[in-house]
Amino acid sequence: MAGQLIPITLTVNGTTCRSEVPPHLTLLEFLRDTLNLTGSKRCCGEGECGACTAIMNGEAVNTCLILAAEADGSDLITVEGLSAMPYGARLQQTFLDQGAVQCGFCTPGMVVAAQYLLMNNPDPTPDEIREGLSGNLCRCTGYARIVEAVMGAAGDE
Ligand code: FES
Ligand code: FES
Repeated sequence: MAGQLIPITLTVNGTTCRSEVPPHLTLLEFLRDTLNLTGSKRCCGEGECGACTAIMNGEAVNTCLILAAEADGSDLITVEGLSAMPYGARLQQTFLDQGAVQCGFCTPGMVVAAQYLLMNNPDPTPDEIREGLSGNLCRCTGYARIVEAVMGAAGDE
């Protein structure tokens, strides 16, 4: 029905958010345009680049492919909430230290994907890092410095 709004309640970076959303609104649009959490980037809109990556119920997801209404009841971590997570602050520092940030457009999604990787594999090999970040595209760095940055943040927290 045109104009219909769907009530949703979800936790974003530890804060409970209640809203009413149109059925077609994506979770990425909800984060950026409703909550003003613009760290998650809008790029391909098709699940190809990983710029919009967040952690939803413990899984890394492309928020451009999820409707806000589908996220009702979920627990979401975006790049804005990363520093409170294990590895989050360390990853942000090692990305800077290693020069793994150039234009920076891919960086929020890349750091969130790296966070998810280290939560599930605290001591990955370079190949495992490349595999773990394979859904995140970077047009600038050639990936070597990104892998170094993740290696630098690895290990027990
Ligand atoms: S904007 Fe979501 S994967 Fe590219
Ligand atoms: S730093 Fe520019 S796309 Fe990755």
